[in-house]
Amino acid sequence: MKPPLPEPLPDDPLPLVQDWLGEAAAAVRNATSMALATVDPEGRPTARMVICRGFDAGEGWFVFYTDRESHKGHALAAHPRAALVFHWDTFERQVRVEGPVTLAPDADSDAYWNTRPPEARIAATTSEQSRPIDSRAAFLSRLDGLTRAFEGREIPRPPRWGGYRVWAERLELWVGQPARAHDRAVWSRELTPVGDGFKGSPWQATRLQP
Ligand SMILES: Cc1cc2nc3c(=O)[nH]c(=O)nc-3n(C[C@H](O)[C@H](O)[C@H](O)COP(=O)(O)O)c2cc1C
Repeated sequence: MKPPLPEPLPDDPLPLVQDWLGEAAAAVRNATSMALATVDPEGRPTARMVICRGFDAGEGWFVFYTDRESHKGHALAAHPRAALVFHWDTFERQVRVEGPVTLAPDADSDAYWNTRPPEARIAATTSEQSRPIDSRAAFLSRLDGLTRAFEGREIPRPPRWGGYRVWAERLELWVGQPARAHDRAVWSRELTPVGDGFKGSPWQATRLQP
């Protein structure tokens, strides 16, 4: 079991989140997978797992990559806000993040795309994520066709594939403690749009009852 949150709470929770992510990455498989909740164009909440591929502890955003024409892509186009949840059972720790979402810069999406193995690039190029398909065989046949078409060639990032940054406006840390006297604290700040992103005000920290 991990110790409770520091007392007094730090002014800025982001270095603590960075430590927690680092500890989890060293000990847990898929440590950066996170639940991503969005609100679809009809106003219905919807959630799925994605992988956090980067975290900026200075500006306070988390990035994931996906198909921007998928269900989540349409949800984020309609309502560019999201909630994230990380949970590491081994450490009895949870991180919750809520805030506005922006598109990652193309240079970041390209850089991450270029780290992906060829088969992952072909699969992402083939898949129109979240669209229906008649059968798995039909998908595999398209995959096979594209694999042959791209043999020996560069596989460019499809325009519909890229990253999203979730900017932390509210961030909650939870750590399990004996006798269910768990420890929780929430930090919130105001985000002001600047360029393609946001600038954060100083954080307000509040301890919460479990
Ligand atoms: C552990 C885990 C990690 C995943 N990571 C991603 C990811 O990084 N990007 C992605 O597009 N889908 C990822 N998926 C698949 C999504 O959960 C989801 O099925 C897909 O993105 C389509 O979601 P949507 O129809 O809501 O857009 C992951 C699934 C699991 C179980």
